[in-house]
Amino acid sequence: MRIDVVSIFPDYLAPLQLSLIGKARQDGLLDLTVHDLRDFTTDRHRTVDDTPYGGGAGMVMKPEPWAQALASVAAARPASADTAGTSGKPVLIVPSPAGERFTQAAAHELAAEEQLVFACGRYEGIDERVMEWAGEHFTVRPMSLGDYVLNGGEVAVLAMVEAIGRLLPGVVGNPESLVEESHSDGLLEYPVYTKPSSWRDREVPAVLLSGNHGKIAQWRRHEQYRRTAERRPDLLAAFDAGALTRADRTAFTDLGYDVVAGRLRRRPDAGDRE
Ligand code: ADE
Repeated sequence: MRIDVVSIFPDYLAPLQLSLIGKARQDGLLDLTVHDLRDFTTDRHRTVDDTPYGGGAGMVMKPEPWAQALASVAAARPASADTAGTSGKPVLIVPSPAGERFTQAAAHELAAEEQLVFACGRYEGIDERVMEWAGEHFTVRPMSLGDYVLNGGEVAVLAMVEAIGRLLPGVVGNPESLVEESHSDGLLEYPVYTKPSSWRDREVPAVLLSGNHGKIAQWRRHEQYRRTAERRPDLLAAFDAGALTRADRTAFTDLGYDVVAGRLRRRPDAGDRE
């Protein structure tokens, strides 16, 4: 996969040289280039922003440097992209609190692309006409990490590139670890423990020392249910409860949920949770 990141703070992206993503780049699994938006300006001051039409606080990023930068990275589309079964155009991700939510499902979808381009906005954002123009060359996806506001797109890009990059074949040593993790099956991950089995008077749950793999798998599943019900009950609305075993159904009943037409429904008498 090829990734291009355009930013006025290229140094902000330095952590992408480290750890798993840095190694993936070294191993040739990920071809990632960071571009300085100011390299695409033509004035002496390398200006990237100006005052907003209509008035108001802050500055807006000028359109022309963005068009120059994005046209330059679009022209560097990998040859393999034309034959791959992807969307045809490179995907332009614009991190913004006003974007669609970036989820694990989105990370999987984007990991199947040949080329991703990230446009890091700063100040009050990028002139909206850039998005319209970019639609001719890219599939444009404004994306948000969550319902809070960052100063710019760079931190969001660090998060998204890590989430996407670790799904590329060969990046994570043991692909099994991608299966049993939070959000892979619409639930939060179960708790984990390591040696010593007794630590500061706290014991590892006995079932994990039992060697009974069936029991362990069931305990872990039920811990996922418990955690998700406690911390993220919103996720349970989308959970497919159609094929649960009797024991799994009972686990949900104990947590205050009934299974109705294959979906979980919180019992009205189950008490306050949120
Ligand atoms: N830029 C500013 N805030 C953001 C957020 N919440 N997600 C993604 N990009 C952002």
